[in-house]
Amino acid sequence: MTYVPNDRRYDTMKYRRTGRSGLLLPEISLGLWQNFGDARSPDSQRATLRKAFDLGVTHFDLANNYGPPYGSAELNFGRIFADDFRPFRDELIISTKAGYDMWPGPYGDHGSRKYLLASLDASLGRMGLNYVDIFYHHRPDLETPIEETAGALASAVTSGKALYAGVSNYTPEQTQAMADALAVHNIHLLIQQPSYNMFNRTIERGLFPVLDKEGIGAVVFVPLAQGLLTDRYLAGAIPAGSRAATSATLSSDRITDAYLERARALNEIARNRGQTLAQLALTWILRQPHITSALIGASSSEQLEQNVAALDFPALTADELAEIEPYATDLP
Ligand SMILES: NC(=O)c1ccc[n+]([C@@H]2O[C@H](COP(=O)([O-])OP(=O)(O)OC[C@H]3O[C@@H](n4cnc5c(N)ncnc54)[C@H](OP(=O)(O)O)[C@@H]3O)[C@@H](O)[C@H]2O)c1
Repeated sequence: MTYVPNDRRYDTMKYRRTGRSGLLLPEISLGLWQNFGDARSPDSQRATLRKAFDLGVTHFDLANNYGPPYGSAELNFGRIFADDFRPFRDELIISTKAGYDMWPGPYGDHGSRKYLLASLDASLGRMGLNYVDIFYHHRPDLETPIEETAGALASAVTSGKALYAGVSNYTPEQTQAMADALAVHNIHLLIQQPSYNMFNRTIERGLFPVLDKEGIGAVVFVPLAQGLLTDRYLAGAIPAGSRAATSATLSSDRITDAYLERARALNEIARNRGQTLAQLALTWILRQPHITSALIGASSSEQLEQNVAALDFPALTADELAEIEPYATDLP
């Protein structure tokens, strides 16, 4: 059936400015890492993307290797985009990345100009797009001179195949170095995409001053710790179909007594606020003014809807933050 988006889609979503730029991003964005590969139901993929756009989620994040198999998330997204979203291209921020292993041989990985620009063309082809809004270098490459990687990102922008450049998984020092290397081309490093959640607070130790100084935004991934900060595993079991049951990226070994104790304590704090644990985890992330957007994953439109509803709740009080603090520490 032809998709007709909700005409009230911009009524409630909140948007934040991405560093010192003209670009606003929704406080919650949707990533297509694990739930848009070929093993996932096409109907569920379509429903989740439609629900997101209907709720004002204007940002969809991809990478060349999302799937599985590699490339399939871009292909599946491209099909849905062609059917449902093409008339709304100017209302969407679509990102992709290159930097991890993608194709065999020496030119399908890391940070060379050869790899990045070939990969961007391939991503555009799979998605059926003329351009992406943001093109990221997916992870730092210590072997390739940063000037070469920056030159490739700059070419992506000046060629019009990407509107903005970003980096992901860079340390504060590497982020500064990329901002400097892009400045040589008169290009602003728009955005950094690091991991951040209650169980991984690494970026609080040094990234924010660089973001401030260079006017860089931050869209943070795995805000729900791949589901550990939801009610998925609170009973201590691994539900069939869950990420811990189906994906190598979340080992069932992580459902330990120490984890359960913390997650249940956080869940209790969430319940006292009338929220779910997932919603509390998102409210907590968005307390940080440096964060432009929390980049969630969702395996159903219901999860997506519940997560976006986190934005309906008031900010955390100083007392609530203090109550959360002992449980919001790095989890091995
Ligand atoms: N730049 C990078 O290196 C990098 C790395 C990783 C991710 N990312 C980006 O970040 C995005 C998000 O990553 P992620 O999917 O790991 O994020 P996440 O939001 O931390 O975890 C998503 C998973 O949590 C569970 N979940 C979500 N909402 C739920 C709810 N309301 N109730 C119960 N369970 C819920 C689902 O697990 P089930 O599948 O078990 O239902 C879902 O698949 C990716 O799609 C990608 O765009 C980037």
